Amino acid sequence: MVGARRPGRDLCEVGDLDLGETCALLAAARALLPLAAGDGPRKFQALRGAVILRIFAEPSTRTRLSFEVAARRLGAQIVDFAADAGSSAAKGETELDALRNLDAMGFDAVIVRDRRDGHARWLSTQLRARVVNAGDGANEHPTQALLDALTILEAFARAPAPGAMQGLRVAICGDLRHGRVGRSNLRLLRALGAEVVLAGPGELAPVALAAAEGVQLAEDLETALRGAHVAMMLRIQRERLGAGLALPDDASYHRAWGLTPARLELLDPAGVVLHPGPMNRGVEIADAVADGPRSRILRQVTLGVAVRMAVLARACGVSLETCLKEQLP
Ligand code: CP
Repeated sequence: MVGARRPGRDLCEVGDLDLGETCALLAAARALLPLAAGDGPRKFQALRGAVILRIFAEPSTRTRLSFEVAARRLGAQIVDFAADAGSSAAKGETELDALRNLDAMGFDAVIVRDRRDGHARWLSTQLRARVVNAGDGANEHPTQALLDALTILEAFARAPAPGAMQGLRVAICGDLRHGRVGRSNLRLLRALGAEVVLAGPGELAPVALAAAEGVQLAEDLETALRGAHVAMMLRIQRERLGAGLALPDDASYHRAWGLTPARLELLDPAGVVLHPGPMNRGVEIADAVADGPRSRILRQVTLGVAVRMAVLARACGVSLETCLKEQLP
């Protein structure tokens, strides 16, 4: 890295945010929501002139486009880089040299998704630009956890504040062993006061994670769901499964671990359903649940744009107050 880090803050893991910052980010996202949802005045310009680099080395629909919408809503531009046949990687340039050259172009921030655990943190030690983690291997997906937290707070009419989730029980169910969404959520939701219970089948059961984080690991899906205020369903991360893992076929998985209308009745009467997407319908979640009245799945996506607006402003060194005030006349 040549020169000091740029103004702004990295977001590599949810632990990069203290409780006060978490609540401030969520509050800013709530305030930005009319614009994020396309319903408000299109005049927020806090990031006008900013250029943000996006490096996505894994597939994505929601996160990739959500960041783009968020950047554009604040007046910033996004530029994509992929170390593929169209780049100088084809001429033997190393990844690090490529990234240093890109950094020398003066990007304000970098949004990165990668299959390697810890890649975002590593990048933050190599670049002047501030780094936002859009998912690194099985490690973390901090903006997903922030948007999930905002969805839960909205569903239970609570304001972002320390202890805001006290009294709420969140069941995170599915492949937590290979998934980053569950890990980030577990940490963030507990920091806000939620009780979190984990559940996963057989070899996907997050035994080590539950032990390391000191949370309950339910023996089956029913136990996890009973009385829960939130059922967060996660898909099997087939792209990260090691060789030799014996998984049931989709129908068997659904019978034992799928969120069906019958299992939905186990939740608290006010309980809601979240899923980060992409969903595997008929596997971890039934159609009738995904599309039913207790589903907040599409709301998560809308709130995600607002969260990413606040996160990009923070990454570019623009205060959240400015973000809300800086409007075109
Ligand atoms: N939730 C999520 O990360 O979705 P994508 O993989 O489509 O970005």
